Amino acid sequence: MNRVAVVTGAGSGMGLAIAHSLADAGHRIIALDLNAEAVDATAKAIRRIGAQAVGIGVDVSDRGAVDAALATARAELGGVGIVVTSAGIAPHDHFQDISQALWEKTLAVNLTGTFNVIQSAMPDMVEQGWGRVVTISSQAGQHGAPQQAHYAASKCGVIALTKGIAWDYGKSGITANSIAPGAIDTPMSRAAQARGDVIGEDALRAFIPVGRLGTVDEIAAACKYLCSEESGFVTGQVLGVNGGTAM
Ligand SMILES: NC(=O)c1ccc[n+]([C@@H]2O[C@H](COP(=O)([O-])OP(=O)(O)OC[C@H]3O[C@@H](n4cnc5c(N)ncnc54)[C@H](O)[C@@H]3O)[C@@H](O)[C@H]2O)c1
Repeated sequence: MNRVAVVTGAGSGMGLAIAHSLADAGHRIIALDLNAEAVDATAKAIRRIGAQAVGIGVDVSDRGAVDAALATARAELGGVGIVVTSAGIAPHDHFQDISQALWEKTLAVNLTGTFNVIQSAMPDMVEQGWGRVVTISSQAGQHGAPQQAHYAASKCGVIALTKGIAWDYGKSGITANSIAPGAIDTPMSRAAQARGDVIGEDALRAFIPVGRLGTVDEIAAACKYLCSEESGFVTGQVLGVNGGTAM
Protein backbone atom coordinates (compact mmCIF):
# COMPACT_ATOMS: atom_id res chain seq x y z
CA MET A 1 0.00 0.00 0.00
CA ASN A 2 1.18 3.49 -0.90
CA ARG A 3 1.66 5.64 2.22
CA VAL A 4 3.00 9.10 2.99
CA ALA A 5 6.35 8.80 4.78
CA VAL A 6 8.05 11.60 6.70
CA VAL A 7 11.81 11.16 6.92
CA THR A 8 13.89 13.60 8.97
CA GLY A 9 17.59 14.07 8.35
CA ALA A 10 16.80 13.19 4.74
CA GLY A 11 19.51 15.47 3.39
CA SER A 12 22.38 13.15 4.29
CA GLY A 13 23.54 9.75 5.45
CA MET A 14 20.96 7.30 6.76
CA GLY A 15 17.96 9.62 6.30
CA LEU A 16 18.85 10.12 2.65
CA ALA A 17 19.14 6.36 2.04
CA ILE A 18 15.90 5.70 3.96
CA ALA A 19 14.00 8.32 1.92
CA HIS A 20 15.14 6.66 -1.32
CA SER A 21 14.37 3.18 -0.06
CA LEU A 22 10.83 4.10 1.05
CA ALA A 23 10.26 5.86 -2.30
CA ASP A 24 11.41 2.66 -4.06
CA ALA A 25 8.84 0.79 -1.93
CA GLY A 26 6.14 3.02 -3.48
CA HIS A 27 5.63 5.58 -0.74
CA ARG A 28 5.25 9.36 -1.11
CA ILE A 29 8.09 11.12 0.72
CA ILE A 30 8.14 14.20 2.94
CA ALA A 31 11.87 14.84 3.33
CA LEU A 32 12.83 17.16 6.20
CA ASP A 33 16.29 18.46 7.11
CA LEU A 34 17.95 21.52 8.60
CA ASN A 35 19.93 21.73 5.36
CA ALA A 36 17.27 23.06 2.96
CA GLU A 37 19.47 22.76 -0.11
CA ALA A 38 20.35 19.12 0.62
CA VAL A 39 16.77 18.08 1.29
CA ASP A 40 15.59 19.86 -1.85
CA ALA A 41 18.15 17.79 -3.78
CA THR A 42 16.84 14.61 -2.11
CA ALA A 43 13.24 15.39 -3.14
CA LYS A 44 14.29 16.25 -6.70
CA ALA A 45 16.27 12.99 -7.02
CA ILE A 46 13.26 11.00 -5.80
CA ARG A 47 10.92 12.79 -8.23
CA ARG A 48 13.32 11.98 -11.07
CA ILE A 49 12.73 8.26 -10.49
CA GLY A 50 8.98 8.87 -10.76
CA ALA A 51 7.95 8.95 -7.09
CA GLN A 52 6.26 11.84 -5.28
CA ALA A 53 8.35 13.84 -2.83
CA VAL A 54 8.56 17.25 -1.18
CA GLY A 55 11.68 18.52 0.54
CA ILE A 56 11.42 21.14 3.28
CA GLY A 57 14.20 22.81 5.27
CA VAL A 58 13.24 22.71 8.94
CA ASP A 59 14.88 22.60 12.36
CA VAL A 60 13.20 19.63 14.05
CA SER A 61 13.71 21.23 17.48
CA ASP A 62 11.36 24.10 16.45
CA ARG A 63 7.85 22.72 16.99
CA GLY A 64 6.11 25.58 15.17
CA ALA A 65 8.30 25.05 12.11
CA VAL A 66 7.71 21.28 12.19
CA ASP A 67 3.92 21.75 12.38
CA ALA A 68 4.03 24.27 9.51
CA ALA A 69 6.21 22.00 7.34
CA LEU A 70 3.92 19.02 7.86
CA ALA A 71 0.82 21.12 7.15
CA THR A 72 2.31 22.22 3.82
CA ALA A 73 3.45 18.72 2.87
CA ARG A 74 0.21 17.08 4.01
CA ALA A 75 -1.79 19.43 1.75
CA GLU A 76 0.28 18.24 -1.21
CA LEU A 77 0.76 14.53 -0.49
CA GLY A 78 -1.93 13.53 2.04
CA GLY A 79 -1.95 12.34 5.66
CA VAL A 80 1.19 10.82 7.13
CA GLY A 81 1.33 7.04 7.65
CA ILE A 82 5.05 6.51 8.32
CA VAL A 83 7.50 8.59 10.39
CA VAL A 84 11.24 7.93 10.42
CA THR A 85 13.39 10.23 12.55
CA SER A 86 17.05 10.25 11.51
CA ALA A 87 17.92 13.95 12.07
CA GLY A 88 20.54 14.26 14.75
CA ILE A 89 23.79 15.75 15.97
CA ALA A 90 26.63 13.81 17.58
CA PRO A 91 28.93 15.99 19.69
CA HIS A 92 31.96 14.54 21.48
CA ASP A 93 33.07 16.11 24.75
CA HIS A 94 34.39 14.87 28.05
CA PHE A 95 31.58 14.96 30.62
CA GLN A 96 33.07 17.87 32.59
CA ASP A 97 33.46 19.94 29.41
CA ILE A 98 29.83 19.69 28.31
CA SER A 99 28.41 23.22 28.48
CA GLN A 100 24.83 23.81 29.57
CA ALA A 101 24.10 25.20 26.08
CA LEU A 102 25.46 22.11 24.30
CA TRP A 103 23.63 19.77 26.70
CA GLU A 104 20.37 21.56 25.94
CA LYS A 105 21.01 21.67 22.19
CA THR A 106 21.79 17.94 22.03
CA LEU A 107 18.57 17.09 23.85
CA ALA A 108 16.61 19.65 21.82
CA VAL A 109 17.65 18.27 18.44
CA ASN A 110 17.96 14.54 19.15
CA LEU A 111 15.20 13.98 21.69
CA THR A 112 12.74 16.89 21.52
CA GLY A 113 13.14 16.99 17.72
CA THR A 114 12.13 13.32 17.55
CA PHE A 115 9.16 13.98 19.86
CA ASN A 116 8.07 17.04 17.84
CA VAL A 117 7.91 15.28 14.48
CA ILE A 118 6.19 12.14 15.76
CA GLN A 119 3.60 14.04 17.83
CA SER A 120 2.88 16.42 14.96
CA ALA A 121 2.23 13.53 12.55
CA MET A 122 0.44 11.23 15.02
CA PRO A 123 -3.17 12.47 14.43
CA ASP A 124 -2.86 11.42 10.76
CA MET A 125 -1.86 7.88 11.75
CA VAL A 126 -4.62 7.64 14.37
CA GLU A 127 -7.16 8.75 11.78
CA GLN A 128 -5.96 6.02 9.39
CA GLY A 129 -5.87 3.38 12.12
CA TRP A 130 -2.42 2.45 10.84
CA GLY A 131 1.05 3.84 11.34
CA ARG A 132 4.74 3.03 11.52
CA VAL A 133 7.18 5.02 13.63
CA VAL A 134 10.88 4.25 13.37
CA THR A 135 13.35 6.28 15.39
CA ILE A 136 17.08 6.17 14.72
CA SER A 137 18.69 6.03 18.14
CA SER A 138 22.19 4.66 18.68
CA GLN A 139 24.20 1.90 20.27
CA ALA A 140 25.47 4.76 22.48
CA GLY A 141 21.95 5.08 23.87
CA GLN A 142 22.04 1.42 24.94
CA HIS A 143 25.56 1.20 26.35
CA GLY A 144 26.97 4.73 26.61
CA ALA A 145 30.07 5.83 24.69
CA PRO A 146 33.26 7.70 25.55
CA GLN A 147 33.01 11.51 25.38
CA GLN A 148 29.32 11.21 24.58
CA ALA A 149 27.35 11.48 27.84
CA HIS A 150 25.13 14.16 26.28
CA TYR A 151 24.61 12.24 23.03
CA ALA A 152 24.07 8.90 24.80
CA ALA A 153 21.54 10.47 27.18
CA SER A 154 19.58 11.92 24.25
CA LYS A 155 19.57 8.59 22.39
CA CYS A 156 18.60 6.61 25.49
CA GLY A 157 15.71 9.08 25.74
CA VAL A 158 14.79 8.34 22.12
CA ILE A 159 14.59 4.62 22.93
CA ALA A 160 12.35 5.25 25.95
CA LEU A 161 10.19 7.68 23.95
CA THR A 162 9.75 5.01 21.26
CA LYS A 163 8.72 2.38 23.80
CA GLY A 164 6.23 4.80 25.36
CA ILE A 165 4.64 5.43 21.96
CA ALA A 166 4.42 1.67 21.38
CA TRP A 167 2.42 1.33 24.62
CA ASP A 168 0.08 4.25 23.88
CA TYR A 169 -0.71 3.38 20.24
CA GLY A 170 -0.44 -0.42 19.99
CA LYS A 171 -4.20 -0.86 19.88
CA SER A 172 -4.54 1.86 17.23
CA GLY A 173 -2.63 -0.12 14.58
CA ILE A 174 0.47 2.01 15.05
CA THR A 175 3.86 0.44 15.81
CA ALA A 176 6.93 2.24 17.12
CA ASN A 177 10.42 0.75 16.98
CA SER A 178 13.95 2.06 17.18
CA ILE A 179 16.98 1.18 15.10
CA ALA A 180 20.14 1.47 17.19
CA PRO A 181 22.99 1.69 14.69
CA GLY A 182 26.57 0.83 15.51
CA ALA A 183 29.36 2.39 13.45
CA ILE A 184 27.91 3.26 10.05
CA ASP A 185 29.83 4.88 7.21
CA THR A 186 28.17 8.30 6.81
CA PRO A 187 29.26 11.94 6.56
CA MET A 188 28.68 12.20 10.35
CA SER A 189 31.00 9.31 11.24
CA ARG A 190 33.61 10.36 8.67
CA ALA A 191 33.66 13.88 10.15
CA ALA A 192 34.09 12.45 13.68
CA GLN A 193 37.05 10.36 12.48
CA ALA A 194 38.57 13.36 10.67
CA ARG A 195 38.32 15.46 13.87
CA GLY A 196 39.95 12.65 15.86
CA ASP A 197 36.81 12.33 18.04
CA VAL A 198 36.66 8.58 17.39
CA ILE A 199 39.34 6.05 16.47
CA GLY A 200 40.04 5.57 12.77
CA GLU A 201 38.26 2.99 10.64
CA ASP A 202 41.14 0.50 10.62
CA ALA A 203 41.32 0.43 14.43
CA LEU A 204 37.51 0.42 14.73
CA ARG A 205 37.18 -2.76 12.63
CA ALA A 206 38.92 -4.77 15.36
CA PHE A 207 36.00 -4.06 17.71
CA ILE A 208 33.28 -5.06 15.24
CA PRO A 209 32.57 -8.81 14.94
CA VAL A 210 31.77 -8.57 11.20
CA GLY A 211 35.00 -6.62 10.74
CA ARG A 212 33.68 -3.54 8.94
CA LEU A 213 31.50 -0.47 9.28
CA GLY A 214 27.85 -0.75 8.29
CA THR A 215 26.34 0.94 5.24
CA VAL A 216 23.40 3.32 5.03
CA ASP A 217 21.68 0.78 2.76
CA GLU A 218 21.82 -1.80 5.56
CA ILE A 219 20.07 0.68 7.87
CA ALA A 220 17.51 1.48 5.16
CA ALA A 221 16.78 -2.24 4.65
CA ALA A 222 16.04 -2.73 8.36
CA CYS A 223 13.89 0.40 8.35
CA LYS A 224 11.96 -0.76 5.29
CA TYR A 225 10.90 -3.91 7.15
CA LEU A 226 9.83 -1.97 10.25
CA CYS A 227 7.75 0.35 8.00
CA SER A 228 6.10 -2.53 6.12
CA GLU A 229 2.57 -3.90 6.36
CA GLU A 230 4.10 -7.24 7.51
CA SER A 231 5.73 -5.84 10.67
CA GLY A 232 2.48 -5.16 12.57
CA PHE A 233 3.30 -7.47 15.51
CA VAL A 234 6.74 -5.93 16.05
CA THR A 235 6.55 -2.91 18.33
CA GLY A 236 8.49 -1.33 21.18
CA GLN A 237 11.67 -3.05 19.95
CA VAL A 238 15.20 -1.82 19.57
CA LEU A 239 16.89 -3.36 16.56
CA GLY A 240 20.67 -3.21 16.77
CA VAL A 241 22.17 -2.87 13.30
CA ASN A 242 25.74 -2.87 14.50
CA GLY A 243 27.78 -5.72 13.03
CA GLY A 244 27.52 -7.57 16.34
CA THR A 245 29.11 -4.96 18.60
CA ALA A 246 26.27 -4.98 21.13
CA MET A 247 25.09 -8.58 21.43
N1 LIG B 1 26.85 7.38 11.61
C1 LIG B 1 26.86 6.59 12.66
O1 LIG B 1 27.80 5.81 12.86
C2 LIG B 1 25.70 6.62 13.64
C3 LIG B 1 25.68 5.64 14.64
C4 LIG B 1 24.59 5.61 15.52
C5 LIG B 1 23.55 6.52 15.38
N2 LIG B 1 23.60 7.48 14.40
C6 LIG B 1 22.45 8.38 14.28
O2 LIG B 1 21.88 8.20 13.01
C7 LIG B 1 21.23 9.40 12.60
C8 LIG B 1 21.68 9.76 11.20
O3 LIG B 1 23.07 10.04 11.26
P1 LIG B 1 24.01 10.07 9.97
O4 LIG B 1 25.24 9.34 10.35
O5 LIG B 1 23.23 9.71 8.77
O6 LIG B 1 24.40 11.63 10.00
P2 LIG B 1 24.40 12.78 8.90
O7 LIG B 1 25.10 13.91 9.56
O8 LIG B 1 24.91 12.25 7.61
O9 LIG B 1 22.84 13.12 8.75
C9 LIG B 1 22.14 13.76 9.77
C10 LIG B 1 21.22 14.79 9.14
O10 LIG B 1 20.48 15.42 10.20
C11 LIG B 1 20.33 16.77 9.86
N3 LIG B 1 20.06 17.59 11.05
C12 LIG B 1 20.92 17.92 12.05
N4 LIG B 1 20.33 18.72 12.92
C13 LIG B 1 19.06 18.93 12.49
C14 LIG B 1 17.96 19.68 12.96
N5 LIG B 1 18.04 20.44 14.08
N6 LIG B 1 16.80 19.65 12.25
C15 LIG B 1 16.71 18.92 11.12
N7 LIG B 1 17.71 18.21 10.61
C16 LIG B 1 18.88 18.19 11.29
C17 LIG B 1 21.66 17.15 9.21
O11 LIG B 1 21.54 18.34 8.43
C18 LIG B 1 21.97 15.90 8.40
O12 LIG B 1 21.49 16.03 7.07
C19 LIG B 1 21.57 10.45 13.65
O13 LIG B 1 20.48 10.60 14.52
C20 LIG B 1 22.76 9.85 14.37
O14 LIG B 1 22.84 10.30 15.70
C21 LIG B 1 24.66 7.55 13.54
